[in-house]
Amino acid sequence: MQGLFDSFISHDLAIDLGTATTLIYVKGRGIVSREPSVVAVQLDKRGERRVLAVGKDAKEMLGRTPNGIEAIRPLRDGVIADFEVAEAMLRYFITRVAPRWPIVRPRVIICVPFGITDVEKRAVRESAESTGAREVFLLEEPMAAAIGAGLPVTEPAGNMIVDIGGGTTEIAVISLAGIVYSQSLKVGGDRMDQAIVQHLRRKHSLLIGERTAEAIKIHIGTASRVRELEQFEARGRDIVHGVPKVVTVHSEEIREALEEPLMEIVNALRTALEATPPEISADIVDKGIVLAGGGAQLRGLDQMLRDQTGLPVLLADDPVGAVVLGAGALLDNPTLLRQVALP
Ligand SMILES: Nc1ncnc2c1ncn2[C@@H]1O[C@H](COP(=O)(O)OP(=O)(O)OP(=O)(O)O)[C@@H](O)[C@H]1O
Ligand SMILES: [Mg+2]
Repeated sequence: MQGLFDSFISHDLAIDLGTATTLIYVKGRGIVSREPSVVAVQLDKRGERRVLAVGKDAKEMLGRTPNGIEAIRPLRDGVIADFEVAEAMLRYFITRVAPRWPIVRPRVIICVPFGITDVEKRAVRESAESTGAREVFLLEEPMAAAIGAGLPVTEPAGNMIVDIGGGTTEIAVISLAGIVYSQSLKVGGDRMDQAIVQHLRRKHSLLIGERTAEAIKIHIGTASRVRELEQFEARGRDIVHGVPKVVTVHSEEIREALEEPLMEIVNALRTALEATPPEISADIVDKGIVLAGGGAQLRGLDQMLRDQTGLPVLLADDPVGAVVLGAGALLDNPTLLRQVALP
């Protein structure tokens, strides 16, 4: 009963506003919402945008909308590209999980990419405040991901976390509750999808949408050579004749198509390892690299990174949830929260 009563008093939240997925964690309840960061809007006669659908329903509409309706991903490359729509999306998700008039207004932790600008910070803070938050904390995603993946971030030992999201890959080394090194590159699941779109266009004269490319990646995509070839029937439009066409693609050609974006990640990882102080490098040799983010679920990626770096590589238990789980854990640890949140 106490839990029920608590939920009327306050609803402290942690939010991971991702390029691909938005997750919400409620203190005492865990992850309560995990939805695609997509909003479908309709232009009314006065040219104003009205929200038609948010999340899964809106994602279904991507690339399939008639005139006057638009399915928008308000975040691109890890940053907010459309503030108005991002705020509408955030408000929709929050009001769905939290009561409109709680007795105590909630504290909210929002995870943001490492190194976002002050303007971006202010915008994120303001959209959270506009949804009724009492106090807003901004937390850098690599720190959140490391905590969520269960790394001992407060110890004087190096931890390396690599979060491969939709828009970005963030590589970070953390020790003593601080970020020793961090690098964010604009290569993630979206770039992998684009590489697949290009491959089909060049090799098969087939034009496919980003949703089909993502399905190919998830079903037969791989980062290492596999013994058994798998295939996928890709549906799209023939570039030459302009008619619908089905082409069977194989896992090996998709592996080749993914090589370029994946090598960018490997190179950035090498740079990070070179920039890491020697004592911390020694820790990483023992403890290895922990992977998080949806993109880290690409088949064979852990093995490929093991081969390329010679280090142990582990995938977090819940790669997509790691960031919001880490932030959520801090709702119960105010001391660490104040230590690691952005000023
Ligand atoms: N099984 C899978 N194999 C390969 N990629 C996958 C798989 N599952 C999800 N993905 C990809 O993971 C990406 C989304 O990851 P995630 O939800 O962590 O991103 P995000 O946190 O929203 O993005 P960012 O952190 O860049 O803002 C998408 O590109 C998606 O296609
Ligand atoms: Mg992310």
